[in-house]
Amino acid sequence: MNTGRTPRLTVIGTGYLGATHAVCMASLGFEVLGVDVDAGKIGKLASGQVPFFEPGLPELLAKTLETGRLRFTTSYEEAAEFGDVHFICVGTPQMPGSDACDISYVDAAVTALAPHLTRRALVVGKSTVPVGTAARLTHVVRELAPAGEEVELAWNPEFLREGYAVDDTLRPDRLVFGVASDRARDTLAAAFAPIIEAGTPVVTTDLATAELVKVAANSFLATKISYINAMAEVCEATGADVRDLATALAYDDRIGGRFLQPGLGFGGGCLPKDIRAFAHRAEEIGVGQAVSFLREVDAINRRRRSRTVDLVRELLGGRLDGRRIACLGAAFKPNSDDIRDAPALDVARTMHGLGAYVRVYDPAALDNARRAYPELRYGESAMDVARDADVVVLLTEWAEFRQIDPHAMAEVTAHRRIVDGRHALDAEAWRAAGWEYRALGRS
Ligand SMILES: NC(=O)c1ccc[n+]([C@@H]2O[C@H](COP(=O)([O-])OP(=O)(O)OC[C@H]3O[C@@H](n4cnc5c(N)ncnc54)[C@H](O)[C@@H]3O)[C@@H](O)[C@H]2O)c1
Repeated sequence: MNTGRTPRLTVIGTGYLGATHAVCMASLGFEVLGVDVDAGKIGKLASGQVPFFEPGLPELLAKTLETGRLRFTTSYEEAAEFGDVHFICVGTPQMPGSDACDISYVDAAVTALAPHLTRRALVVGKSTVPVGTAARLTHVVRELAPAGEEVELAWNPEFLREGYAVDDTLRPDRLVFGVASDRARDTLAAAFAPIIEAGTPVVTTDLATAELVKVAANSFLATKISYINAMAEVCEATGADVRDLATALAYDDRIGGRFLQPGLGFGGGCLPKDIRAFAHRAEEIGVGQAVSFLREVDAINRRRRSRTVDLVRELLGGRLDGRRIACLGAAFKPNSDDIRDAPALDVARTMHGLGAYVRVYDPAALDNARRAYPELRYGESAMDVARDADVVVLLTEWAEFRQIDPHAMAEVTAHRRIVDGRHALDAEAWRAAGWEYRALGRS
């Protein structure tokens, strides 16, 4: 270590997780070096631009760059030379054609870094990985690092939410330290000292438990969302109202109202791929049955997307082809520009494929959506895409969509029909303004 108490940090992989982690740690007073193989991303960050949408991060990046404590590089040699603690924050997407996690970016990062580690260091995985990865990488690091036993590996899973990433990083609910030695635990404690001193609980575990905490947490959240959406399916068949059902359930504090919002379901770069990878990994190690319910959780979630398309079709009298559809939202959730496995774009693309004239608007994710799906049409505002629409479909619950005046929107659409895919609107207010209002799980 360079000093007894304040380790120098590198953050390897500067995407949604890594860039936020690097900036926040520098803001807490650490010297931080961000590392990525994407020279374009590194160039942007070094010049003060955050390459994605995250509230509060651009301001904090500008401030921390000014202090001189935060720098960026594409050089692993420089990273190894600089850092005492190396956080691995690279992507772990779903493998194409399989439910398994693609761990190759983590392997590549560790095998690129380790041969340059010539003195004591701690390599800390933050990426979400299949259980057993850390144990395997411990051997890889020891074999490749010239410093041998002086280099240790730990796992510190990350729970930040896009849209609240800065606050979640600076003030997490808890820190999980997956370690194989007291030395690794003490080094992590030094690397998070300001956060721990602020009262954040620390749970210290072995490596496998730390890996599992993350996928167990995401599985629980996904299950809760799919649970209420399963109830929505039952409500649709019985004429009951899932919104009232959810409200009544939420008053029971054993159940609670968070993640109990019915609607189009979950998406993004974490929940869907994490539950699939967990189910896949559990099968590999012979405990597939223990989490086989996750397959059903995934299936319920996917059905919400096709049911939303059905609802639009029903509202249009049974046909989508040639109809003009305004889609409000593209990001997988509000306050993010992330379109990975976004339910909104899945629904928009399905309706486009069925012959509808689909126009999409999103407050932050338009550039990403345009790049990924150039076949769709896009507009510059909710009112813009709603012009002459036969139906409006709310797909991502941005605050600005909740504030739309139904009377004003009725002025521009061809028909007053709306599908509220997120239960985000005041149904009574829209009906009072003459709209035919439909939502999943509500009669
Ligand atoms: N995004 C979130 O909200 C979030 C929350 C918690 C955990 N996670 C987990 O964090 C990890 C990263 O997710 P993300 O959303 O930041 O992904 P991302 O795709 O935004 O970022 C990954 C970054 O890693 C870089 N990279 C790839 N290979 C590299 C290598 N060999 N060396 C250096 N850099 C490399 C990429 O260029 C990219 O900038 C994943 O495991 C994810 O499951 C994400």
